[in-house]
Amino acid sequence: MALVGLNGSGKSTLIKLLLRLYDPDSGVIRINGTDIREYRLSDLRANFSVYFQDMRNYCFSLRDNLTIADNGRENVDEAAVAALNDSHCGDILRKAGNGLDTSLTRFFDPDGIELSGGQHQKLALARAFFRRHTALILDEPSSNLDPRAEHEIFQSLQTLTQGKMTIFTSHRLSNVFLADRILVLEKGKIVEDGTQEDLLKNKQRYAELFRYQQEKYLLRKEPELKSHANSLD
Ligand SMILES: Nc1ncnc2c1ncn2[C@@H]1O[C@H](COP(=O)(O)OP(=O)(O)OP(=O)(O)O)[C@@H](O)[C@H]1O
Ligand SMILES: [Mg+2]
Repeated sequence: MALVGLNGSGKSTLIKLLLRLYDPDSGVIRINGTDIREYRLSDLRANFSVYFQDMRNYCFSLRDNLTIADNGRENVDEAAVAALNDSHCGDILRKAGNGLDTSLTRFFDPDGIELSGGQHQKLALARAFFRRHTALILDEPSSNLDPRAEHEIFQSLQTLTQGKMTIFTSHRLSNVFLADRILVLEKGKIVEDGTQEDLLKNKQRYAELFRYQQEKYLLRKEPELKSHANSLD
């Protein structure tokens, strides 16, 4: 499921409410018919692995940057490398002279590695993949990624999320094709709900947002650019 909407429409808030970082002032959130306040908090949260929009990594080893999300895993190193591969962190692993023991940042270790914004994002995604879950939540998982990295992450998600509930937000609507269902939020309310096809047919909010991005790619006003783009392999 994709959550879509303008800045401040309530997407991240909805995710935080689902995880009970806040409780709603009014209304009820139910999972399998039960008010989420009736589940033990640890049981509720154990089901979710979350990539938060304002993610942070830690001045720990690469391994600990993953295990901090789930310290009960067996075959930790194997699982850590798998998670790093799933989030296409090959460049980070290559840079890391000391493998999973390599420190992140040089704050506490002169041999530590420093990462770019996009690399930080991919490492934080690896942490979300590492944590065992029944539902995966990704809040703007590709906001700092270059076009190839974004493409690769969403390709990975197609296989990683097979048969698993996944909720994600993305302002780049070209990613939203992955979702079976799209919710459009506006001022904290769901104003549209359907498949991409339904919402494009509706010609309401989603279609408007889609059009803004689509127009950029259609290159209608630059016929010369269009012919260059067409000639690319
Ligand atoms: N902790 C908070 N306390 C009070 N208001 C908040 C808090 N966090 C966010 N808000 C407000 O709630 C509204 C919704 O914010 P939210 O972060 O859910 O938006 P969003 O849809 O995720 O936007 P974006 O696309 O920018 O990530 C905004 O008006 C924001 O200022
Ligand atoms: Mg947000």
